[in-house]
Formats: sequence, structure tokens, C-alpha cells
Amino acid sequence: MGKLETERLLLRPLSTDDSGRIEELAGDYDVAKSTLNIPHPYPKGSAIQFIESILSSERNNKIVMFAITEKESQLLIGLINLNLSAPHKRGELAYWVGKEYWGKGYGTEATKVLLEYGFNHLNLNKIFAASFTSNPGSWRIMEKVGLKYEGTLKQHVARFGLFYDLAYYGLLKEEFETESQNANIDK
Ligand SMILES: CC(C)(COP(=O)(O)OP(=O)(O)OC[C@H]1O[C@@H](n2cnc3c(N)ncnc32)[C@H](O)[C@@H]1OP(=O)(O)O)[C@@H](O)C(=O)NCCC(=O)NCCS
Repeated sequence: MGKLETERLLLRPLSTDDSGRIEELAGDYDVAKSTLNIPHPYPKGSAIQFIESILSSERNNKIVMFAITEKESQLLIGLINLNLSAPHKRGELAYWVGKEYWGKGYGTEATKVLLEYGFNHLNLNKIFAASFTSNPGSWRIMEKVGLKYEGTLKQHVARFGLFYDLAYYGLLKEEFETESQNANIDK
């Protein structure tokens, strides 16, 4: 797994050295609350096990996970990943960005390059993502990168004692290719 570069970001493989920084940023309730998997409070010292389990899943081709780093500061600012389903050539996209970095377009920038990687490098047929309908930051990213709304599953998940509707968005390889061609014609 290589590195992916955008104008302001470098996406690189995760390393066990990232554990402190992940605990610091993902430990924020506002980051954890709209995800399903980030524990809260984040148990101190536990990110190392999370990273090791991810690295193991990567070796089994179950996931690709990138640390999103800001080129300017070289700091890790978030994580982005595709959970892979090999039989279906499908990837489920998920991401978080540290709160102090929200609203700068970083989530959108990282997602765009991961879509290219998923379709062009991993040769996936479909990339999809689910978001709480109450989390506009997340579903706006999906809309901005071209994922299409597929439907909402009502009160599909529970988090911190409340039920949430999940909106699903997806993009097919053929749609991605058509959109990329049109973008080139428009240039
Ligand atoms: C969701 C998240 C990744 C967005 O990251 P980000 O880097 O701030 O996103 P961007 O700056 O690329 O913004 C994307 C769009 O969402 C909008 N947006 C971002 N946060 C928003 C908010 N709280 N309310 C409304 N719109 C918001 C932005 O305005 C932008 O749309 P626009 O260009 O039309 O204005 C970030 O808020 C986050 O990590 N949240 C916690 C974890 C999470 O929810 N992950 C997703 C789980 S599915």
C-alpha cells in the first residue's frame, strides 16, 4: 500500500507510532458521536490494539486504511478507510477528521483521492458509505465527491442511547468513469 497525495494532504499507511495522536483526536466526543466504532471515552493506551488489528486486516485484504496527514504540519489529522468485500468487489468508505481541522475541505479532499484509489488501483466495482442523517458534514462529503443517494434505513443503529437513521450513498465504477471523462471534457 503506497501513499496518496493531494494538494494539501498526504495519505499514508497507519503506523503504531500514530496511537497517541489517534487517541487525542478521536477521543473528542464530537468526533466519536457520529461514528459507530470509535469508543468513548477512548481508553488510554488502546489505540495501539486498534492499529494492530487494522494492520492485520490489511494483510488479509479486508481493509485499506490511510492516516490523513496535513502536508504543511506533517501531523495526522484523521483516518480514512475502505472496508473491502472481495466477492462483491465492493468497498465501504468511512472517515473522521480531528475537530480543529473541520470545515477546511480536508474530508472532501481525502475522500476524492480514496475513490480514485478504490476504483483505479483496487479495481472495485462499487464504493458506498452510510451516514447518520443527522450528520450533514458526512453526507455532504458523499454528495460533493459524486456518490449517489440510495436510500435511508430508519433507526437502524443505536449510539449512546439514541437511535439513528442511516443514509446510504454509493457510486459504481462505470458511473465514476463516465463522470471522470465528463470532468476532463469540461476542462
Ligand atoms: C464528517 C467530517 C469527516 C467532515 O470533515 P470536514 O473535513 O470538515 O469536511 P469538509 O470540510 O470537506 O466539508 C464537507 C461539506 O460538509 C459541510 N459540513 C461540514 N461540517 C458540517 C456541519 N457540521 N454542518 C453542516 N455542514 C457541514 C461543509 O460545509 C462542506 O460542504 P460545502 O462545501 O457545501 O460547504 C468531520 O466533521 C468528522 O470527522 N466528523 C466526525 C466523524 C464522522 O462523522 N465521520 C463520518 C462518519 S459516516
